Amino acid sequence: MAASWLKHAVFYEIYPQTFYDTNADGIGDLQGIIEKLPYVKSLGCNAIWMNPCFDSPFKDGGYDVRNYYKVAERYGTNDDLVRLFDEAHKLGLKILLDLVPGHTSEEHEWFQASKQIEKNEYSSRYIWTKSVFEGAQPLPFIAGEAERNGCYVLNYFKCQPALNYGFYQPTESWQEGVDGPNAVKTRQAMADVIRFWLEKGADGFRVDMADSLVKLDGPNKEGTVHVWQEILGPIHEEYPEAAFVSEWNNPSQALRAGFDMDFFLEWRGNGYSTMMRDFDETPDGEVISPNGGYFAKHSGSDVSRFLADYMPKYEDTKDLGLYCLITCNHDMLRPTAGLSEDELRLAYAWIYTMPGAPFLYFGDELALRQRLLKTKEGSYRRTGARAPMQWNAGKNKGFSDTDGELYLPVDDDPNAHTVEAQEKDPGSMLNFVRSLIALRQANPDLGNYSPFEVYSAEEGSRVFAYKRGELLVAMNPGVEAEELMLDGAYESIFALGVNVVRDGKLTLGAQGFVVLRPIA
Ligand code: NOJ
Repeated sequence: MAASWLKHAVFYEIYPQTFYDTNADGIGDLQGIIEKLPYVKSLGCNAIWMNPCFDSPFKDGGYDVRNYYKVAERYGTNDDLVRLFDEAHKLGLKILLDLVPGHTSEEHEWFQASKQIEKNEYSSRYIWTKSVFEGAQPLPFIAGEAERNGCYVLNYFKCQPALNYGFYQPTESWQEGVDGPNAVKTRQAMADVIRFWLEKGADGFRVDMADSLVKLDGPNKEGTVHVWQEILGPIHEEYPEAAFVSEWNNPSQALRAGFDMDFFLEWRGNGYSTMMRDFDETPDGEVISPNGGYFAKHSGSDVSRFLADYMPKYEDTKDLGLYCLITCNHDMLRPTAGLSEDELRLAYAWIYTMPGAPFLYFGDELALRQRLLKTKEGSYRRTGARAPMQWNAGKNKGFSDTDGELYLPVDDDPNAHTVEAQEKDPGSMLNFVRSLIALRQANPDLGNYSPFEVYSAEEGSRVFAYKRGELLVAMNPGVEAEELMLDGAYESIFALGVNVVRDGKLTLGAQGFVVLRPIA
């Protein structure tokens, strides 16, 4: 049984470096998040996922953890984090931390010990070959960096050696099976980290690269699924109200592994990208072709590519947990990179009327623009979506009071969106997002676990319509009016654009969106 609060969970993702700086060092901090909790709540969100906040040399934005048990100094102290849990709970908000189980920083003390020639407790905490002249192909590895004679396997960047959770089918003497003694010790160590923070008041974790623990895994990631079952099974029993969302992008595997939720992430050509981000970009994240995605008004696209990807996974897992849509995350381009604000409204209306727990990336509620910025702490093409939050028109857009350097530069466009300006404008994106979340929360049929069924998605048609319980949701992102036959009498409870229900037929105007309720 998943945590009961997931039924109504609506998430807000916070990248702590750039959310709100309260000590004027140019970097966001935990106190800043605490001070902005009422803002998060005002959106209608009731849960937060915060990117890693642990001690780190920050060669990958904190996804290179040096100490899982210590908050990074730039953010505050462990006590501040506990205060964040407490203050959030007082407002009815949940906090998910970010767990990075697959690798540590090369500066982690486990790795420092593992590198030693002398055998010690951590010698097999990471994956080492027998000799520096024997590589770990096809896995990425480093040779010649340690006195210890062997190569070590990497999980991501060079600074992130892979922890040893074993191999699905070991073929070399230096490889251990998933239930080998050292692999079991690694997973116990990670379970200890999870328990430590749950005991302190965390409500769960977003889990980084959750699918890649076991190396040279089976075709359905059987090894990694097994490892998570071993970790999460007991933890779910001990902490029934803790929630776990995986960065896996395959709910059929992730939810069977014991996660409560999995993300529908984006890569070029997959179902998610065909909705919002179907364009080419440079390696630095600059968009260089028109957006062919469904929500681009002139794209002419239908939802067939999305449904071909989404539906089998949704159908397979709808009784197991949540398959979650996101506006964006800290690894992607902001949705404004490819969509104008009117297009974005439809895309958000879609996200907030679909099943799964919706995730809003900080600043997307303002339609912050995608920036083109120099890399910072290993961000590369991801930098442009990690720029500071824009609170008001004042100094540093209200992000920080420093006269010195900011973590990343604020948008110096005097017309750049801010919370302050959008609060005052009833027609702003901010208030539109609020109205969508309120709509979702007021209608249990739009809930995270409530049924979803495609009503109309004809090939070549711009119309996409689906039932959520009794409700009928229909949209037309194009510029020509479109018609849809209705299966009964309905009234509109939410609309964008000009739409008409008459004689058993719905006419969706240009960029029309409607939520219809049956008339009893
Ligand atoms: C996925 C995270 O979201 C990303 O930011 C990070 O760089 C990699 N995993 C490596 O941990």
